[in-house]
Amino acid sequence: MKIYIVDSYDKISEKAALIVASRIIANPKSVLGLATGSTPIGMYERLIDMYKRNVIDFSQVTTFNLDEYYKLPKENEGSYHYYMMQRFFNHINISKENIHIPNGMADDVEKECREYEKKIEKAGGIDIQILGIGTNGHIGFNEPAENLNTTTSLINLTGNTIEDNSRFFEKREDMPTKAISMGIASIMKAKRVVLLASGENKARAIRDMTNGYINTNHPASILQAHRNCILIIDKDAAKLIE
Ligand code: F6R
Repeated sequence: MKIYIVDSYDKISEKAALIVASRIIANPKSVLGLATGSTPIGMYERLIDMYKRNVIDFSQVTTFNLDEYYKLPKENEGSYHYYMMQRFFNHINISKENIHIPNGMADDVEKECREYEKKIEKAGGIDIQILGIGTNGHIGFNEPAENLNTTTSLINLTGNTIEDNSRFFEKREDMPTKAISMGIASIMKAKRVVLLASGENKARAIRDMTNGYINTNHPASILQAHRNCILIIDKDAAKLIE
């Protein structure tokens, strides 16, 4: 695992956008694994800017999002569908049929999860997986636990995550308590993983994912076993690394 410690959130965003852009330039048919949340917003803004300046073309790119809330309609402003359309997809020339986000409204969730995995496989696997990290060390919505899911599954969110993410909802009660998320193996199969973290509130999670031990109570720590994983973090998030 390579760790890049940069000065600011802007630098994180810039570096991440350049990594994604260079991948798309090298292979216009790249398959991207995408994250939501606060952290990748700056990266998406830069990618949109590069698209507008004709530096990159998304017409043949395929994307798979990590997760979506369970039983939250796509139109809900708190949904990850809504987030991705507003913050990224509506501003680039990606084909709608190449966008994949788990359907949190699916009647048959198990089928939805199985099919999501198949779609990733059929696309040839993920070339670059962008990740954020929860303050509790989750990646995707793989929450700290004794047993972690290998493949895409329905997850019960922990109190910590509900607390952290309720900021995206008007009322705390509006925040869903379950989500569909790619599993640990789905993430580990990506050819390259790029994890972004900014701010002191991520310092403990970053310490626990880089300490040389894999612990399912720190799901991100599994990334230490990935062959091609890089962390792009700011000084505050790097504060506790030994
Ligand atoms: C989002 C996701 C989550 C977030 C994590 C950090 O799709 O899968 O793992 O990356 O919760 O969120 P932020 O960036 O809001 O701190």
